[in-house]
Amino acid sequence: MPQIAPKNKRFYGQFLNRLKTKFEEQVIIARRKLDSNLIAAQLGPPVDPTLPSPDSGPGSWHPLTQVREEMCRILHKVGFTVADGPEVETEFYCFDALNTPPDHPARDAQDTFYFPETARFGNVPPRNPGERYLLRTHTSSVQIRTMLAQLPPLRIVSPGRVFRRDTTDASHSANFHQLECLYVDRDVTVRDLKALLDYIFTALLGPGTKTRFRPHYFGYTEPSFEVDLSARHLPKVNKEWIEIGGCGMVDPAVFETVGYNPEVWSGYAFGMGLERLAMILYGIDDIRYFYQNDLRFLKQFA
Ligand code: DAH
Repeated sequence: MPQIAPKNKRFYGQFLNRLKTKFEEQVIIARRKLDSNLIAAQLGPPVDPTLPSPDSGPGSWHPLTQVREEMCRILHKVGFTVADGPEVETEFYCFDALNTPPDHPARDAQDTFYFPETARFGNVPPRNPGERYLLRTHTSSVQIRTMLAQLPPLRIVSPGRVFRRDTTDASHSANFHQLECLYVDRDVTVRDLKALLDYIFTALLGPGTKTRFRPHYFGYTEPSFEVDLSARHLPKVNKEWIEIGGCGMVDPAVFETVGYNPEVWSGYAFGMGLERLAMILYGIDDIRYFYQNDLRFLKQFA
């Protein structure tokens, strides 16, 4: 500009300014083009979201869901209805009301997931002030919730998720599933309990299934037993007896806690592992398969 004659300065100035604006416009246009090409490359070929999905095969139930539903169906036939309870529990429902003393190993922090002292759950009101919360270690807590809410006689089945401080291996998992049953009526005996267990296991696993009781201790039943079942007709079952759960006649102390007269009412209860049942039924040898969401595994149960 300094070399340009003053009379021409105006013309050149305007000309250069126009040139600069044009140039800047072109840069912006080129940039936009680059950006949109980049986005298009990231998005891949255009899709029509109104077309049906290429993977529209029907879904299927998880093997644990199948066993759970089948068990509930079998129990429904003999009058049991499904009852539910929360996975977060207080010590009262999980232990105290089930006649499980404070020094019982199940209550130990080594075995149970407790919440911090200050944790509060508005939808799970504690029975006693200051009670600790924990992840339920068994579905037996639903027995207490049901009996506090309903009058006898009653028959309930309660399947659900439970939690223990177990190290994961082929047969242990820190969360697994149980199925709990409670039957309260007049003059209930161990014979009724054994007959029901024979019926449900035969219905699920087929004729040739046998059950046996071994004496055991549970605070909430007296007498108490561990239940073994034998199903040698199933492929891959290579043991004669497999432990499947616990059971017994409801302890009078439990009836007293929930306000049932133990002189009038009697009952049985049992709880069993759903994973274990599914493993026997389908010949699965590692509990971890249930939780890995591997389609190669899951599709076998479709
Ligand atoms: N709650 C027990 C467990 O987790 C199983 C059990 C035993 C349930 C005896 C019951 C029972 O209802 O009566 O190992």
